[in-house]
Amino acid sequence: MTKMAILVSGRGTNMVALAQRCFSGDLKADISFVASDKKDALGIKKAREMGFETIILPYNEGMARAEEHLNEKILSQSVEWIVLAGFMRILSSDFVGKYRDKIVNIHPSLLPAFPGTSAIKDSFEYGVKVTGVTVHLVDELMDHGPILSQREVRVEDSDTLESLEEKIHEAEHDLYWRTLKELFSGRYRKKGRRMIIEGPY
Ligand code: GAR
Repeated sequence: MTKMAILVSGRGTNMVALAQRCFSGDLKADISFVASDKKDALGIKKAREMGFETIILPYNEGMARAEEHLNEKILSQSVEWIVLAGFMRILSSDFVGKYRDKIVNIHPSLLPAFPGTSAIKDSFEYGVKVTGVTVHLVDELMDHGPILSQREVRVEDSDTLESLEEKIHEAEHDLYWRTLKELFSGRYRKKGRRMIIEGPY
C-alpha cells in the first residue's frame, strides 16, 4: 500500500476528505502520519480523532530543525509521498530537492493565477468569472510546480465569498483524491513542465 504523510496548518477538511477515500478503498494509500506547524490546528485535532499519528513540527526552533524532524519521521516510516493540504509554509529548497516530485500541493485557484495564502478572496475580489482548483507538484517556488490537474469553478453573479469558498472546497475534496490515485499508480510522465497521463484514457 502506498504510504503518504499529510501536512496541514488549518481546518484539515482536505485531509479528512482524503482519509475518507483511504478508508473506503477509493484511494489505495495509507496515511502514515499527519503533521502540522501549528499545535492548535483544527486539522490536527481531527487527525487525532480519526486515529492517525500526529506530529507538531518545531518551527519555533527554526525551519531547519522542523524539516529535520519531518525528514526523520518520513524515513523511519518509509513514507513515499508528502501531501500538502492547506500547509501554509514554504519548504526549503534543500527539502524540496531531497523529495523532488514526491511532494504534492492543492491550491484554491487556477494557477498561475492567484498564488498565495488568500487565493479565493483574491480571485473573488478581482472579479473573475471562472476560477477553480489546482493540484501540482511542489518545487522551490510558491504555488508554482508542474500542474497535475485543474478543475474550473464558475463564479455566478449571485455568489458571495462564502458560497464561492464552499464550491471551491467541494471541488478540492473531489479532485485531490482522484489526482493522487493517478499519481500513485505511476501513470504521470513529465514532459518539461507538462505532466501527462499515459493512456489508455
Ligand atoms: C485549501 O483551500 C487549500 O487549497 C488551501 O488552503 C485550504 C486548506 O483548507 N491551500 C493554499 O492556499 C495553499 N497555497 P483545509 O485545511 O480545510 O483543507
